[in-house]
Amino acid sequence: MSVVKKAVFPVAGLGTRFLPATKASPKEMLPIVDKPLIQYAAEEAIDAGITELIFVTGRSKRAIEDHFDKAYELEAELEERGKDKILRSLRGILPKEATCIYIRQPEALGLGHAVLCARQVVGEAPFAVILADDLIDAEPSALRQMVSLYEHYHNAIIGVQNVAREETGSYGIVRTRAWDDRLHRLEGIIEKPAPAEAPSTLGVVGRYILTPRIFDLLESLGTGSGGEIQLTDGIAQLLEREQVLAYEFAGKRYDCGSKLGYLEATVEYALRHPELKNEFRAYLKGLSLS
Ligand code: UTP
Repeated sequence: MSVVKKAVFPVAGLGTRFLPATKASPKEMLPIVDKPLIQYAAEEAIDAGITELIFVTGRSKRAIEDHFDKAYELEAELEERGKDKILRSLRGILPKEATCIYIRQPEALGLGHAVLCARQVVGEAPFAVILADDLIDAEPSALRQMVSLYEHYHNAIIGVQNVAREETGSYGIVRTRAWDDRLHRLEGIIEKPAPAEAPSTLGVVGRYILTPRIFDLLESLGTGSGGEIQLTDGIAQLLEREQVLAYEFAGKRYDCGSKLGYLEATVEYALRHPELKNEFRAYLKGLSLS
């Protein structure tokens, strides 16, 4: 049985890049074809053996709670109309053994602060953090790959991937020592460095397995880049106290926090969707793009 049973989903960001779509609804509720980003993330967690899903919500939290709650009236209506397939997809959103817990981040003070808000619920166990706007298409899922590594090494693990040098200013960038194939030993981590200052082009993406020691470190952190309490800064302190690994997961990641990444994911997932793929491919072929 997996030792990583809890996952934190920070969903309290302001989502400014997607305004006005994110004015009254969190960015994580944006759909890729017919499922919201947060559901892909929850499914990835379940696939990795997680049973406790901890959502750190902010304004407009209701949409996510409603999404994972049972919708009695809607289900009764679908049943009456004989819409069995849709009913099954609604009922299958989360397996029965999964528990959802909602915590409020009173102010969007940064990702590090959002993770800290989950402290009481996480307790003394290792835990995963999933940023749902990083959608990762992988088999096995990126988090499952990382949980397997955690079970072997018992070290905190950060998901990373190579990014273009001109984009380092959008990522936490790591300095590492090669270790084993896709696995690196973390030696340093810095939030959003300019390309000339970046220690590498390995950027942190939204999958982490952390040890509970991170909470004390986050608590004593001041604000960092962008005036926010940065998870990256907490990890920089963690690696001074214990070994942290950086893992280049196998799979394709879509940055759904950006409009372009979101559209790329939408097109590629639609091209694989059983109900849509043929018609959608024909539609795309018919577009006269210059
Ligand atoms: P982002 O850096 O993508 O920020 O947050 P954002 O506010 O969501 O979006 P933009 O940049 O304004 O468009 C990374 C993750 O951290 C969460 C977000 O919900 C997202 O999943 N987050 C960020 C919080 O939960 N709380 C915060 O205070 C900040």
